[in-house]
Order: sequence, then C-alpha cells, then structure tokens
Amino acid sequence: MKEFVTMETIEEAAAAVRRPLTDLPQVGIILGSGLGGVAEAVEAAAVIPYTEIPHFPQVTVEGHAGRLVIGRLEGQTVMVMQGRAHYYEGYSMARLTLPIRVMQVLGVETLIVTNAAGGLNPGFSPADVMIIRDHINLIGMAGQSPLRGPNLDRFGPRFPDMTRAYDPALRALALQVAREAGIPVHEGVYVCLAGPNFETPADVRFLRMIGADAVGMSTVPEVIVARHGGMRVLGISGISNVLTGEDEPAAETTHEEVLEAGRLLAPRLETIVRGVLRRL
Ligand code: HPA
Repeated sequence: MKEFVTMETIEEAAAAVRRPLTDLPQVGIILGSGLGGVAEAVEAAAVIPYTEIPHFPQVTVEGHAGRLVIGRLEGQTVMVMQGRAHYYEGYSMARLTLPIRVMQVLGVETLIVTNAAGGLNPGFSPADVMIIRDHINLIGMAGQSPLRGPNLDRFGPRFPDMTRAYDPALRALALQVAREAGIPVHEGVYVCLAGPNFETPADVRFLRMIGADAVGMSTVPEVIVARHGGMRVLGISGISNVLTGEDEPAAETTHEEVLEAGRLLAPRLETIVRGVLRRL
C-alpha cells in the first residue's frame, strides 16, 4: 500500500460517501475509544460502514464501531465517524487521515474531534474532560507527518501554520457549555504518541516536563490535515485514567479501564458536542 494518498483516491472515497446523501454535512465529528454513543443521537439519513468506502482505513480495536453516521443533530448536518483508525494499526499517516480529506471534499468546514487520553496534569481525575488548547506533535517531530509527500494544493499550502490550531471561539464555547452543565472540565495541551504501548513512568515525567497535560495515540494527525485544509477545529479529550509518573504506581493502565471510563465520559462528551452544535 502506498504511503501517500492522491486526489483520485480521495475522490473515490468521497463519491461512495456522497452517493446516498441528499444533504451534505457541514460539521465532522470523530468519536474516540468508548465514546461512540454520540452517534446514536443523530437523526441518521445514512449509515455507511467503513468496509463499504474504498480506501478508508478500517478499525481493528475494541470500542470503535467503524461506521459513518450522517444526518441531523442539533440543527446541523453532521458526518460522525463512530470509531477511528490509529497509526499503530499499521496505516500510513496519509491513509489514516483520508477521512478528513473526504470531509473536506464534501464541504465540511468544522471538525469536532474527541479522544480518550491519559491525564498527566496532577489536577486531573478520571472522567474529567479536557478541551484541547494546543498540542505537541511528538510523533511528527519523530518524522511522521500526514502531509509528507506531494502537497495537495487544492486543500492548502506546503507549509501550513499551526498557531491557533484549536479554534479559540470554539474552545470558549465548549468550556462554557461544559461548565453550565456542571461537567468537570479543564483546558490543556494534548501530546500524541504512536502507541500501542502505554507510557513508562519516565515517559510520563518527560511528557509533563515538556508541557503536556494529557497523552493519547490519535487526534494530532487528523488536526494537522484539518488545519492544512482550513477547517475550524475543536478538540475534546476524555480523561480515562491518570498517570502519576511514580515508578511503583498503585495501578497499571489497561484498555478495559479506558473503555470503562468511556461509559462515564460518553454522556459528558455528548452534552458538550450537542451544546456546541446548538450554538454554532
Ligand atoms: N496513554 C496513552 N493513551 C491513552 C491513555 C494513556 O494513558 N489513556 C487513554 N489513551
């Protein structure tokens, strides 16, 4: 499989998604590990399994349904990704972020991206929500960029700026919605690692030192592609577990723990996403 995606690949995938639609989506939503429940709230006009979309990255991890749900939610036409693929599943960065390009071709201008993340900030507790203020692209600094290869000029420039990658107005709106609903919420910096292993205690101490508040294995590649194409982005992390950085922590991190916290976090994220959509 090639590392880069071409305009033809994107168009073929977009055509398969467009076919059953009468209304094109304005807002894209990506639901992370254990957070797929928001899709059930959509008045669905079309449900398309990823297996039916040519070139789409397939999901292999438990907690990700692997389908697109397109329809109405809080007055907006939304395209919801119920589950996402991750770099550790073996896709190139460009393939992994193909769904964002498809959204852009269909006319989506706003992206709401969610994830499950480990809390690094000592002030965070499990099931808290973090609105992403900024990210650290550690995986990108190590040489993995979804924009590597020929630039797709139709979407954006060769050297896209990454200041204010997370839209300040959307962040303020999300914080306001969460606070009004009594949801424990923070704003902070998300750092993306490749995974699939969780972090060592020394990793945790390092990530804190460089200014990260939460750590996960997704989101940053998608946001880079979204920003390259000029989308407005809102990023929301559900803090599924907290990392202490102690050499002998009381508990180890497990995927089950991440999914368990998702059961508490999913309704919180749904409240925030719905509130933001209502006031867009
Ligand atoms: N580390 C990395 N990714 C994660 C974690 C974590 O502790 N929790 C959920 N996703």
